[in-house]
Amino acid sequence: MLLATSAIGCSGGEQADDHPVTTTVAAVTQPTSTTVPRCDDASTCTTRQLADAAGVTFGTAVAASHLDEADYRTTLVTTFNSVTPENELKWASIHPAPDTWDFGPADTIIEFAKQNRLQVKGHNLIWDQESIDSTPDWVLAIDDPTELRATVTDHIRTVMGHYRGAVDRWDVVNEPLQTLGNELYDNHFRQVLGDGYIAEMFTIAHKADPAARLFLNEANVELLPAKAAALVALVKALIDQGAPIDGVGIQAHLVAGTVDSAAVRSLIDDLEGLGVEVAITELDVRIITAADPLATQADTYSQALSACLDESCREVTLWGFTDRYTWIDNTFGLGRAPLPFDRDYQPKPALAAIRERLAAAAK
Ligand code: G3I
Repeated sequence: MLLATSAIGCSGGEQADDHPVTTTVAAVTQPTSTTVPRCDDASTCTTRQLADAAGVTFGTAVAASHLDEADYRTTLVTTFNSVTPENELKWASIHPAPDTWDFGPADTIIEFAKQNRLQVKGHNLIWDQESIDSTPDWVLAIDDPTELRATVTDHIRTVMGHYRGAVDRWDVVNEPLQTLGNELYDNHFRQVLGDGYIAEMFTIAHKADPAARLFLNEANVELLPAKAAALVALVKALIDQGAPIDGVGIQAHLVAGTVDSAAVRSLIDDLEGLGVEVAITELDVRIITAADPLATQADTYSQALSACLDESCREVTLWGFTDRYTWIDNTFGLGRAPLPFDRDYQPKPALAAIRERLAAAAK
């Protein structure tokens, strides 16, 4: 058990942060070598080593509340080389009231990541949609553009400042398009700051941490060709406006047996053609009806990874890893078993498919 007090970040960018970090996390002992492992015989390598050997960032969403579980920690650090806090960095969690900041849960994840040499993706700075409690009411109550702009700027500077040097990628704006449509979502930031709010957020984020890679993250573009085209058009418009956008995240919340990998490949191709990097950011594969559900699920995971790794995409993050903890249960009902480890952290055929695809990329 480790007790650490240290100031994260403070290199380059804007004002230093005065929120010291205190965390307690049990370290998982790790092989110390930092050289890229070779996995000539994939069976001797952990999934994480396969990803490292393939030069792939292979991540998972993580919840601070589960890090006190040994199986959760061990499965995570032997399978993944990157983590994305599932909820701890969202505005409502980290900045619930104008003068109230709660860095604790995210600090716990950051400290765990440091101890286990995991990369960290920040998710997310700006996200407002009906029925989603990601942006707190005190922010949604600000209708004056100057005041909202100042509030957003302070929020982004403080959060990115606190994690500068520890978080290397950020989802700056999440789900800017309509959930099932092709237009900009009419959220509070758009209503008060106008259609240019997205480019503005990227500019503010880039100033806050010039070293961080900045992403736009979107849902359902794997399923809806018109929305995929709207995303490509939006990214092109942002680039034309001079927005400092580095990458685009495709969430990929999929249903077993339904992925159109040709459509996903062409979307990735179109986005890469604009000069941005592409990542799969929230992959899970829920089982609804399938003849051979686990084999069908495994094939869908394999197709999703191939759609990325066959292009220049080198980042795939799962939205969790054990069926014990998944947002799918609350949203689509229990028993969809969307992840590669079952509720007892036992690997499913999906994990073998993922390993096989990573091993192929490592060759
Ligand atoms: O922490 C509070 C807790 O104090 C309270 O008692 C409890 C009951 O209301 O709510 C807890 O907060 C919940 C939080 O998850 C933590 O469990 C929120 O209500 C709930 O809305 C939140 O759901 C998250 C959801 O995003 C909304 O932020 C899911 O866990 C998370 O998996 C989901 O992830 C999103 C990505 O961020 C963006 N893409 C889609 C994806 C799935 O919806």
